[in-house]
Amino acid sequence: MEIYIDTANLDEIKQAADLGILDGVTTNPTLIAKEGIDYGKRLAEICKVVSGPVSAEVIAVDFDGMMKEARERLKIADNIVIKLPVTLPGLKACKALADEGVKTNMTLCFQSLQAMMVAKAGAFLISPFIGRLDDVGEDGMELIRNIRQIYDNYGFDTKILAASIRHPNHMLHCALAGADVATAPLKVITDCMKHPLTDIGLERFLSDYKKAFG
Ligand code: G3P
Repeated sequence: MEIYIDTANLDEIKQAADLGILDGVTTNPTLIAKEGIDYGKRLAEICKVVSGPVSAEVIAVDFDGMMKEARERLKIADNIVIKLPVTLPGLKACKALADEGVKTNMTLCFQSLQAMMVAKAGAFLISPFIGRLDDVGEDGMELIRNIRQIYDNYGFDTKILAASIRHPNHMLHCALAGADVATAPLKVITDCMKHPLTDIGLERFLSDYKKAFG
């Protein structure tokens, strides 16, 4: 499974890239607002650190506005992926951009048919939001499993990018369900390498060694 970091914080992106297992970056308007920096400027900085796909979300909600913003963002770097909402104008923009060879990430997916429609339009990535479905008492992971089945039934090559990931258990079940990519905050990524028995075991190995050899 590929791993993207879900942040617009440059320091966190650098830390994740430094681990050597980072495949891409996702950003959204909320994450950029948190940084309080110009979106285009930050995207350019991110693309200097990460060579994999970097998702840039449009702010416009109409087709023409989305296309205009997409063209601006695409000038930033070759690895920019245009992130669009799974609305009807978003679907139309996805198709128009895909026909031009532009990669898109279709976001705010909460039901499987949205994923089927954007795959037909040639989306590069679909972003089902697991955590937000869990938050309202639904099963986010079931959405991942259903999209996997639909894509496999028809041979769609749109990648499933599991988003709104809150903890390592989400990461585990995404991998088991066959998500192609998971995007997560830095803490969730680093927590995937943690287990208390690893720490206790390491401590014991080192103290035994020290006792025997000083
Ligand atoms: O980038 C979209 C998504 O990952 C947001 O996650 O935690 O705000 O639901 P969250």
